[in-house]
Amino acid sequence: MDINFTFDKNHDIIIKLLLWQEVSNMEYKKIYKEFIKNNKYKKLSKENHHGTSRIEHINRVAKMSYGISKFLKLDYISTTRGALMHDFFLNDELDNLNAKRFKVHPEKAYENASKYFEINDTEKDIILSHMFPVTHKMPQYKESHIVNLADKVVSVYEFGRYQVKYTGALAIVFTLELVNNVFKFI
Ligand SMILES: [Fe+2]
Ligand SMILES: [Fe+2]
Repeated sequence: MDINFTFDKNHDIIIKLLLWQEVSNMEYKKIYKEFIKNNKYKKLSKENHHGTSRIEHINRVAKMSYGISKFLKLDYISTTRGALMHDFFLNDELDNLNAKRFKVHPEKAYENASKYFEINDTEKDIILSHMFPVTHKMPQYKESHIVNLADKVVSVYEFGRYQVKYTGALAIVFTLELVNNVFKFI
């Protein structure tokens, strides 16, 4: 009797997980549809980003952010939308700024996003603060912290997977910026 009970219980959990996954996929695609229809946004698929395309990076960050924020019962629509716009810039738009690219691209992404899409306060904060602590703009909402964290996790994964030789350098730059900003906040 116990064995059957355990089986049924596990079976229920698997069905619920599959349903959650199915609903999540449909919901995510519905949110993403608005962005991928935009001609400038489509160009992100041709932009190099961490050894992969920017659209691929953005989708990784947005899917992770969607899952975490939905699980935590936060505003997952704004979290996903903000994540989908967080790196909305073309490499040509920042060409003159090479070394400062890390710091200025959130503003460029916000400028582009606000030109083509309706943005609420949470989404604006997500875009502008996603590079904290490299930049000084600290996330103001839980949703912004989620995207900030997802972006770091995905970036480390992508550097490890696609650009192994730069991973060490990125870790050093990131650590120096972190130390630098922590001292400014103390
Ligand atoms: Fe970024
Ligand atoms: Fe990013």
